[in-house]
Amino acid sequence: MLPRRRRGRVEDPGSSSSAVRFPGVAIYLVEPRMGRSRRAFLTRLARSKGFRVLDAYSSAVTHVVMEQTSAEEATCWQESRATPVPGCPRPALLDIVWFTESMAAGQPVPVEGRHRLEEAVPREGPPSPVRMPPYACQRPTPLTHHNASLSEALEVLAEAAGFEGREGRLLAFRRAAAVLKALPCRVSALRQLQGLPHFGEHSRRVVQELLEHGACEEVEKVRLSERYRSMKLFTQVFGVGVRTADRWYQEGLRTLDDVREQVQRLTEQQKAGLQHHRDLGTPVQRPEAEALQQAVEAAVGLALPGATVTLAGGFRRGKLQGHDVDLLITHPQEGQEAGLLPRVMRCLKEQGLVLYHQHQRPHSGDPARWTRRSHTMDTYERSFCIFRLPRPPGAAGKAVRVDLVVVPISQFPFALLGWTGSKHFERELRQFSRKERGLWLNSHGLFDPEQKTFFCVDAEEDIFRHLGLAYLPPEQRNA
Ligand code: UTP
Ligand code: MN
Repeated sequence: MLPRRRRGRVEDPGSSSSAVRFPGVAIYLVEPRMGRSRRAFLTRLARSKGFRVLDAYSSAVTHVVMEQTSAEEATCWQESRATPVPGCPRPALLDIVWFTESMAAGQPVPVEGRHRLEEAVPREGPPSPVRMPPYACQRPTPLTHHNASLSEALEVLAEAAGFEGREGRLLAFRRAAAVLKALPCRVSALRQLQGLPHFGEHSRRVVQELLEHGACEEVEKVRLSERYRSMKLFTQVFGVGVRTADRWYQEGLRTLDDVREQVQRLTEQQKAGLQHHRDLGTPVQRPEAEALQQAVEAAVGLALPGATVTLAGGFRRGKLQGHDVDLLITHPQEGQEAGLLPRVMRCLKEQGLVLYHQHQRPHSGDPARWTRRSHTMDTYERSFCIFRLPRPPGAAGKAVRVDLVVVPISQFPFALLGWTGSKHFERELRQFSRKERGLWLNSHGLFDPEQKTFFCVDAEEDIFRHLGLAYLPPEQRNA
């Protein structure tokens, strides 16, 4: 402890380390319950985010933040400290929750009744236990949920684990994140995690740090690391997976310009990906996806009357933007779809819509082979494309990644289910089928390895029924 006098002298005005971004807010952190080192940590954290934190209490303070302090204690503290200045409003007496929420938001959140200590809001009682089944396919997951900052942090760790090829770790973090997305309420205390599946020591610690400080050191370190940033940059290029990205990284490449210098080693897909990198990195908006769907529908209608085009992927789950457009093409009469894709591509090319495309022929559908493949692989005839958005004449249309997938009608519900995602939802659904039901599921069918039979279905609902699962509409598959 420094003697009182000296402490008085080292006090600073509170804006020394970083530019003040919110001049209307001056925070004072009350030390007694918080403790010295935690107060110092929170002060640094807030200042690094552009908040003004005053070391000494004065009439300039607008927000007094306390931890583990009752309303009575808080009022007492204020009365002993502050001589009210006539005409000056008293600062708000706030619980630490206001502070952590503001750190997480990167700006001061509006003060609500539940933040105010004077209002002595009764502390939340023990949480009513949330029934949370272990597989993501057993519970609805809406697109918007109550724990975005927590789930995003865990997903950074999942993604980073994926970059290192650590599949088990990736899954552990993804599953914990998916549980948070499915919760019906915001997590504001660690005890709310009690009884939830997939919350291991590590994920719990991350949540704890986020709740206490509004940031998690490990996550921030990963986010800023050269490795994570490079891997993220590289894997976002069309045609580049984790293995290629890792090789480039090991060779010392760090930027896309570094990669462009190695042009002779790039696949055609990667060259196209780099060429259109800026556009492809800009999210596709729903109206753009719908415009492309219409363009493809028109071409498909010309090439084969009666054939249909269905928008799958994130847009089918209700997302307003996405990284690509996933379109499934089929025809109500089995077999009619054969030979359709090259005709469709020719038609689209004639309209000048195609910037790049790569045709993948259909493979033979041997079930023993396709069930061993990774969860995103299927053997449909397909075109990996980059389209130019149709625009009014004169304006150059933006480049957009589009997948066209041709599906025989008998397999259509499986393809639709598989291509609607989310990726994590699909992974869980397949694992649930295999482990809990002894059935093999993929984008082509549902197979009973004991009976050696396939299930016949007319719609996605039938697949859920065969698996003994309650049907989840696409908007509830955002795991
Ligand atoms: P996406 O990667 O397009 O994801 O795959 P998304 O959910 O639409 O998200 P954004 O907005 O584009 O980023 C959509 C679904 O299609 C499956 C994936 O597993 C996912 O469930 N898929 C994708 C395949 O089955 N095969 C593929 O080759 C690619
Ligand atoms: Mn998509």
